[in-house]
Amino acid sequence: MAPSEVFARRRARLQQSLSGPALVVSGFARPRNFRGNRYPFRAESHFLYLVGRSLEGAVLALSPGRAVLYAEPPDPIEALWSGPMPSLDALAKDLGLEVRPIAELVVDGPVALLPPQDRETASWLEELVERPVDAGGAELAGADAALADAIIELRLRHDEAAVAELREATRVTGLAHQAGMRATRAGVRECVVRAAMEAEIIGSGMTTSYGSIVTVHGEVLHNERHDGWLTDGDLLLADVGAETPGGWAGDVTRTWPVSGRMSGSQRAVYEVVESAQSAAIAAVRPGASFRDVHRTAARGLVRGLCELGVLLGDPDDLFARGAAALFFPHGVGHLLGLDVHDMEDLGDRAGYAPGRKRSTSPGERYLRLDRTLEPGMCVTIEPGFYRIPFILDEPRELGELASAIDRRALEQLSDVRGIRIEDDILVTPSGAEVLTAAIPKTVPEIESAMRA
Ligand code: GLY
Ligand code: MN
Ligand code: MN
Repeated sequence: MAPSEVFARRRARLQQSLSGPALVVSGFARPRNFRGNRYPFRAESHFLYLVGRSLEGAVLALSPGRAVLYAEPPDPIEALWSGPMPSLDALAKDLGLEVRPIAELVVDGPVALLPPQDRETASWLEELVERPVDAGGAELAGADAALADAIIELRLRHDEAAVAELREATRVTGLAHQAGMRATRAGVRECVVRAAMEAEIIGSGMTTSYGSIVTVHGEVLHNERHDGWLTDGDLLLADVGAETPGGWAGDVTRTWPVSGRMSGSQRAVYEVVESAQSAAIAAVRPGASFRDVHRTAARGLVRGLCELGVLLGDPDDLFARGAAALFFPHGVGHLLGLDVHDMEDLGDRAGYAPGRKRSTSPGERYLRLDRTLEPGMCVTIEPGFYRIPFILDEPRELGELASAIDRRALEQLSDVRGIRIEDDILVTPSGAEVLTAAIPKTVPEIESAMRA
């Protein structure tokens, strides 16, 4: 965990851009099926960024000249079930921050808020500030919008402590992927591989940063079922990331053959995706537009599919007509930080530079990031190839691109349902650093890791 000065520095920077008081809440644990059986508590990311501790039901009150943490004092009855909690004095010493009992928090004027992520926290806040608070709401105005913009300005470019956390998250994410490759064999279910991957994460004292995707149906983009059986001849797609105790996320996808060896068709498509990914990674540098990085990947994919004979026509013309989205309907990546899609709780406010808006085109409507890259930003680069029946068997989705697909060539790729390759990239002053470079990725690397 980073030292308290890191959080003090972040708070001070935020305070410099405040023109009035603001509250940053940690939130409450969410019930799983009844109040006593709850999901593990994780504080809201803005709170973690500024305080560094997952304290339930706490509020950081900031104004230009003062920072106070309001927290629950230790409860002896609760200690029976959950163990002793630090006194507020001990917490204050530890955090280098004024700490007061939450019961002393009163709001007697306008105060800026960020949208909390659940209704319970929103209702609690509504009573405190005596105005409506929208849970998960991204429509912000006035002082709330200014607070969101100020915090985005801080969290967009990672400081040294954040980068150290991201390195830890991506290191353990790498261990998980290598364990997954070793655990893969025909005749077991996807959950066996998931368990091997999450064991590395849990055994490293971390949690997963999102619901693990470990599936032979990689064409279902966020497939969270794990009950499928692995059969020789299948490709297994694993999109699994570790989250550090401080809350920082890794987000990596690898796709590998259940048998340990890719077929000719699998290898051919895999190398098309890999080459599109390499081109996109090479385009990541300060000053680059992330939309152009996306287009680099999409263009590379179209070119590769033309070479395989799956797409018919001139690659540039096909790209211009939106052919990439037939096989790669999502964006090439997103911001990564304390959230796997960093600051997506604020809608597109963080991902899209002021004045930029989501496109409605099939190839770019799911692009989560449209900013000019700057040193300190961390992004994922994750192109894929998917045979999605909902697109490829639907004349309405295909439109005039239907005649650009060679069905016989596509049929020859029937043992490829979904391939995604995802790495985490830190933008540096001179270019980019692939934080996940050590995770096997080329076909020989993957096949050798699976033999290990
Ligand atoms: N793991 C979700 C994503 O890659 O965006
Ligand atoms: Mn991702
Ligand atoms: Mn992912």
